[in-house]
Amino acid sequence: MKKSIVIAIDGTSASGKSTNAKLVAQALGHVYVDTGAMYRTLAWHCLRHRIDVTDAKAVGTACRQWKTQLKCVADGFRQVRLLVDGYYPETEIRTAETSAAVPHVAAGPQVRAWMKRKQRECLRFGDLVMEGRDIGTNVFPETDFKFYLDAHLAERSRRRAADGVNENLAARDQRDSQRAAAPLMVALGAKVIDTSGLTAAQTSAAIIEEVRQRLARTGPD
Ligand code: DC
Repeated sequence: MKKSIVIAIDGTSASGKSTNAKLVAQALGHVYVDTGAMYRTLAWHCLRHRIDVTDAKAVGTACRQWKTQLKCVADGFRQVRLLVDGYYPETEIRTAETSAAVPHVAAGPQVRAWMKRKQRECLRFGDLVMEGRDIGTNVFPETDFKFYLDAHLAERSRRRAADGVNENLAARDQRDSQRAAAPLMVALGAKVIDTSGLTAAQTSAAIIEEVRQRLARTGPD
């Protein structure tokens, strides 16, 4: 049986992961998985149920008990959604309140173990483009297709501001990089791309070209 291909795209906040992961998924016919949205959904769930997001034990318990379902939807391209109680909180997970809570939630080892299991389950939907912070290092360390995107802080802040979001990216990256459980770092064998001076079309083309070269070297299975 043909082994599924997983393209892992990690990197700092606002480095272009989402835009490029979607473009690559669309171009190659892979299923797109936004793992940040999964952590955001848990943060939203905790806020909604008045669970203290800084209490790792309480968040771990909530994560063991919440009723979730992975669903693959076609919305321009195929993508995976994590539903909680049958609902995908698409807008709620992008609020400033959820953004502030999510790094706390994402730091817990129990949460990370649960997320890793769920994210690996996504293989049942087919070939993947999965974006996050620990996909190449922790979730799919065995994949041959790893990328790490970064850009200058000023450029990343400019991009977020253009999206109408004002957030302290440096503080968030520091928390994501310094936590004990699965911190943000460059995976062994990852191709690092500085997207500061690149358009999304150029970045996604560079990723696709690298995937083709690696496929030619390693074969599809
Ligand atoms: O990519 P994003 O901004 O939606 O991610 C939200 C938060 O979740 C961010 O602070 C980092 C965390 N995260 C993580 O720790 N591991 C992942 N694989 C994805 C996101």
